[in-house]
Amino acid sequence: MSGDNLKKDLKKILEEASKSIKDINSISDLEKSRIQFLGKKSLLISLMKSLSDLTKEEKSIAGKDLNNAKTEINNLLADKKISLSKVDNVKKDDFDLSMPGKASSVGSVHPISKTMDCAIQIFESLKFECVEGPEIEDEFHNFTALNIPDSHPARAMHDTFYLENNLLLRTHTSSVQVRTMSENTTPIRIIAPGKVYRKDSDITHTPMFHQIEGLYVDKDVSFSNLKSIINIFLKSFFEQDDLKIRFRPSYFPFTEPSAEVDIEYIDSKGNKSWLEILGCGMVHPNVLDMANIDSSIYSGYAFGLGVERLAMLKLGITDLRLFYENDLRFLKQFQRI
Ligand code: DAH
Repeated sequence: MSGDNLKKDLKKILEEASKSIKDINSISDLEKSRIQFLGKKSLLISLMKSLSDLTKEEKSIAGKDLNNAKTEINNLLADKKISLSKVDNVKKDDFDLSMPGKASSVGSVHPISKTMDCAIQIFESLKFECVEGPEIEDEFHNFTALNIPDSHPARAMHDTFYLENNLLLRTHTSSVQVRTMSENTTPIRIIAPGKVYRKDSDITHTPMFHQIEGLYVDKDVSFSNLKSIINIFLKSFFEQDDLKIRFRPSYFPFTEPSAEVDIEYIDSKGNKSWLEILGCGMVHPNVLDMANIDSSIYSGYAFGLGVERLAMLKLGITDLRLFYENDLRFLKQFQRI
C-alpha cells in the first residue's frame, strides 16, 4: 500500500460515511453505522493495521490522516445523535406507543369547604360582608366581651384549649363579633366563617370544627328580621321551599332573647325528626355597650351555624369524623357536588 492509495481510500471511506450517516433515522441504525465505519472489522481499522507496510515518513503522514478521518467520522456520529435525540426527530420505533401514560389525578375541594362556600355565597347575596378573625384569641374577645365573665358557668360549657399568656384557641366564631363591632362603625352586617376548637371527640364532635357567625347591627333591627334571614338562608341552602323550621327558646349569655333553630329531617325510611342547626338571638345590650355601641340607639341580631352539621344533613353523612380521616374513598364521592 502506498501513501497515495491510502489517501484515496480514506477519501472514499469519509464520503461513504458522511452519506450514510446523513440518512440515518434511528439511534439503533446509528450504532450499526458506528460499527460499520469504526468497528474492529471496519475498513478504517484495517488501513490502520496496514501502516506497517509504509516507510517511516509515509507512516507519520498516513497516521495523522487516519486519525483525522476517525475524528471526522466520530464527529458526524455525535452530531447525528444530538439531532436524533431532539423531540421533533424522535421516530416511532424509539417509543412503545402501547405503554400506558402517566395519569395525573385531579384533586377536589373538601366537602366542608364546599359547604362553607355555598353558605357564604347565599349570605353574600343577602348583602352580608365576609370577614375573618384570629383562631388564637384572648379571653376578653372569646368570653368577657360576650357577656361571659370570669366566674360565669357558661365558660365551662366550652371545653377550651388554653395556651400561655391568657391566650386560647377560639371556642366559637362569636369572638369575631366583638372584633368587628369595636373596629367598625354601624351599620354592621357581616358573616365570619372559620375554624373553632373544643376538647371534644366522638361521633358528633371533633376537636376542630367550623362555624359561620352572623351579625347585623343597626337602628331598629328586630327578632323578625332575624327569623326572616334564617328562613331564607335555610330554604335556599337545602334547596327546599317547604323546609320546616322551628325556633326554640334557648339561652346564650351574649344574646337576649336567644333561640335555637331546628329543621325537620326526614330520613331514608321516611321517619321525621327535629335537628338543631344553629343558635341565634338579639345581641345582648351589655355586648353592644362593651363594644362602644350605644344600646339605647342600636340593636342587632346574631347567629352561629355549625358547618359540619349543615354538611352532614345535606350530604346524608352520619359520622362527623369521616370528614377528617382523609380517606379518599370517602372524599371522592363528593367530587361533583
Ligand atoms: N357561639 C355559639 C356556640 O358556639 C353559637 C351562637 C349562638 C352564636 C347564638 C351566636 C348566637 O351568634 O347568637 O355555641
